[in-house]
Amino acid sequence: PTSPAAEPYRPQIHFSPKAHWINDPNGMVFHNGTYHLFYQYYPDATVWGPMHWGHATSKDMVHWQEQPVALYPDSSGYIFSGSAVVDVNNTSGFGKNGQAPLVAIFTHHNAKLEKSDPTHVEQQSIAYSLDEGKTWTKYAGNPVVPNPGISDFRDPKVRWFESQKKWIMTLATKDRVTFYSSPNLKNWTRESDFGGNAGAHGGVWECPDLFPLKHNGKDVWVLIVNINPGGPNGGSATQYFLGNFDGKTFRPNSTQTKWMDYGTDNYAGVTFANTGNRTVLMGWMNNWLYANKVPTVAWRGAMTVPRDLSLTPVGSELYLTSTPIRELDKLEKQAKSLTNLKVNVETDLTTKLNVGAGPYQLKLTVPNPADFSLVLANQQGNELVIGYDKAANAYFIDRTKSGKTDFDTSFAGRHTAPRLSTAPTMQLTLLIDRASVELFADGGLSVMTDVFFPDAPLNHLKIKSATGLLITECGYKQLSSARDSG
Ligand code: FRU
Repeated sequence: PTSPAAEPYRPQIHFSPKAHWINDPNGMVFHNGTYHLFYQYYPDATVWGPMHWGHATSKDMVHWQEQPVALYPDSSGYIFSGSAVVDVNNTSGFGKNGQAPLVAIFTHHNAKLEKSDPTHVEQQSIAYSLDEGKTWTKYAGNPVVPNPGISDFRDPKVRWFESQKKWIMTLATKDRVTFYSSPNLKNWTRESDFGGNAGAHGGVWECPDLFPLKHNGKDVWVLIVNINPGGPNGGSATQYFLGNFDGKTFRPNSTQTKWMDYGTDNYAGVTFANTGNRTVLMGWMNNWLYANKVPTVAWRGAMTVPRDLSLTPVGSELYLTSTPIRELDKLEKQAKSLTNLKVNVETDLTTKLNVGAGPYQLKLTVPNPADFSLVLANQQGNELVIGYDKAANAYFIDRTKSGKTDFDTSFAGRHTAPRLSTAPTMQLTLLIDRASVELFADGGLSVMTDVFFPDAPLNHLKIKSATGLLITECGYKQLSSARDSG
């Protein structure tokens, strides 16, 4: 592993590339005991450029090994975001000798047409692999979904719809989502549209996903739609809708946007394919407002930790909840916990819990919470503040004084998330890495993901509460690095 001095912002429990630019996670799929992560990758610079699909593999979604580039741009354009499936029944005919092919479905973005013919830049294409995602053959009949004349027409997410034995493609089409179906991944029929008048429209719709989750034994369909800009705290964010899908049409329970993550830095998240009863989402831990400017040197961009998704009711309303995958527990190095900790104005937790710089996990149980804030700090005077504002009934992360912020005017700031839970006792799980915080409150009902860039490691932790606070449990777990360890 690289030394903290050489790469102070290098994520330790998140995937980041050794070098150069990444954005969206793509084609995540579990196959033959291995998790595959592909991603938007520009192997020639640390800013966005002609897109490739980079590739990494893992046995547990925690320890990732970077692999050679999987898909290169070609005469039809850059390789934009998309998905991958295991074609178990060989519907595509790409399989050989009883071996199921991996099929990638992606957007070809022809930058040469951007000026002359902007409504025909993007089309959907496919490629297959018979060697565990190492080499890919692009289909000779590409594109499989030609552009009908829509300027933003991208990010196909495909899943098998078992009851009707067909594939469903969920595609972002400018200000809406369009569903297509296919028997073989090659011939696609347009089924319906969702959006236009539903949901948030502060920006273009991108990277959708559609999947069922069980609630009281029944399937509820979740439609995820990434949007940029127009997020609740500015820039890129992920909205979702719950409803029903019959193989043709998505019928939402409500056309009002719900936000999956209120932080500024979880974008373009979609789920892994082929994970059985589990639904696991991973996002790009960044925001298009400043993604090209964040002050890392060798590389730019990282992924969030993978999150298990489920549905949780609050009163009569259902919400999508996210919790860090249990595989992360394997990183535990040292644990220390305090019970019935009384905070009177300010308590320094640094020595009490033996806190160092990240990575670490912090868990708090707070009955009847009043205002409080956790302050991650260093000798240089940098502060990252995470807390709860009782009057607003909201969580917040304030990175105004967190270190380097002046690379973009939108970066410094205080971000908020409503507390949705009505439970009297508050539960917080925080994952702190060298340059990111992920807050999962109340079992993942309120989630915030933010990046930050301190002038020196934030190796100091205190908790403040002007009115006083009782924390019944305060657990600290130092985590080991997931990098370069196989
Ligand atoms: C989302 C996105 C996608 C697109 C890709 C290009 O971040 O804009 O819509 O396919 O990035 O890299």
